[in-house]
Amino acid sequence: MTEKNMAISLSKVLPDGQSVNKEYINIILEEDIPVLCLNRGSQKKRLMPFKVLYDNNGDFWQKPGGGWEYYLTGDDYKKLKEKATAASAGWNKEVPKAKKTAKTDKLTQVNKDEEELEEIEVEVGYGKEYKSFAQMSTEEKIECLNENKRMLLDLLSSKPRDETKITETLVNTTKDAALVNHTIISEVINLTDEEAKKATQEMVDSTQEMVKSSAQLIQESIFSNELMNTLVKESKGTIIQHMTRVYINGIAFISYYNKLVSASSAIQKIRIKFASAYRKFYSPLLPHMHLEDIDLESVFCGGMRAVPPDLYFKWAVGFLIHDIGKASAIEYHEGEAAYDRKIVIDHVKQGYKSITTKTNYPIEAALITGYHHEYYGDSDGYGYFRAYLQRYKKDNPQAKQDYCIAYELEPMMDYQALAYFPAKVLEIVDIFDSLTDPNRVYRKAMLPEDALKMMREEFIEKRPKIDIILFDLFSSFIHEKEAQAAA
Ligand SMILES: [Fe+2]
Ligand SMILES: [Fe+2]
Repeated sequence: MTEKNMAISLSKVLPDGQSVNKEYINIILEEDIPVLCLNRGSQKKRLMPFKVLYDNNGDFWQKPGGGWEYYLTGDDYKKLKEKATAASAGWNKEVPKAKKTAKTDKLTQVNKDEEELEEIEVEVGYGKEYKSFAQMSTEEKIECLNENKRMLLDLLSSKPRDETKITETLVNTTKDAALVNHTIISEVINLTDEEAKKATQEMVDSTQEMVKSSAQLIQESIFSNELMNTLVKESKGTIIQHMTRVYINGIAFISYYNKLVSASSAIQKIRIKFASAYRKFYSPLLPHMHLEDIDLESVFCGGMRAVPPDLYFKWAVGFLIHDIGKASAIEYHEGEAAYDRKIVIDHVKQGYKSITTKTNYPIEAALITGYHHEYYGDSDGYGYFRAYLQRYKKDNPQAKQDYCIAYELEPMMDYQALAYFPAKVLEIVDIFDSLTDPNRVYRKAMLPEDALKMMREEFIEKRPKIDIILFDLFSSFIHEKEAQAAA
């Protein structure tokens, strides 16, 4: 939903160090008036809660960082003035005359600035379609999921398949599912766990069914079209669009991985180059093991293998809802100008907690959400697994991890492995998406090749954060897609 707004610069509304500031600020906070953030560099516009920006920096409009400028929309500015005038009328009776004159002068100054309003196009909040989904009834949302599932099933049974239609349908149905899940979970968050699980059951069932059809379609068609390129082109840069791309790219990569490792020579090739290309990377992760004892079997618990269909579908749900705990203002705090680690970290906790306590989604999906920023226990990462491991280690001081990655939950929960396979995959897909996303407000998009280069340098060579073998396979996947798109 795009709105045309006349906007006024916040630095004109709230001049620095003057008494008018506090009154206006109080009204803005009381009325929950949002701030229109404009990045002149990237030309991105976002509507953010004033409180979030203000809590982060008490005079953020005076010291903008990263090319940001801040505005109030014309309607909000009008509302602010009316409230201030009403408050001022009461205040006149009690306040000494000199102060009143000073205040009136400042208000007049603000009124003059009104002439400098400029027209700014605004994309509202969490994403352009969020509002319309939030206004739908639960029944309408479930019907939307079911209708989307029917469309996907039709496509699955149609031959020959229309690739443009497949791309469009995959993007739209995934986006709808992410929005339905986000809006319904937000609505039940204050219910008791039991009530919430009951209220979300239909959503859980319909989403899982839809994901089955959608994941099957991706599995069957991903290598014959320009899906990812279209996805990036159509992207509007919201959290929902990111979840959509990560879901589709994540499933597509696991399909690619499965095809690759099912061909016996692929694993053999990795095994042959393990000592020269990979052993050094894994050695610091398995410090109690002798260097020469570390092999491919030490990396993948139970041996490197294809992902079975039942796990594939459970993981697909996790990919879809992995950022469900993100607050609408998080994008601002992910950028350097206003980086707030606490807020950024919180989305993992919120997502994991809401999925485990308010829904009956499989535990595999919840764990993907909880562990998707672990970075092999590096201090830059964050998640629930490291806290779990610390507790486990305290209770079982003799326990040692003999593997890096587990496909199943049990070896991971029994402290046998450092990480969960789908979460390690998601880390890679997630970072790649954030680096190549053309609509991130806080940084320019990288070309795929540059993003891969940067990831290797920063997340593998400098410190072992993402998995090197999975990353190499992901790089081949991206290269193959690029080559197909160019053909
Ligand atoms: Fe995330
Ligand atoms: Fe993400």
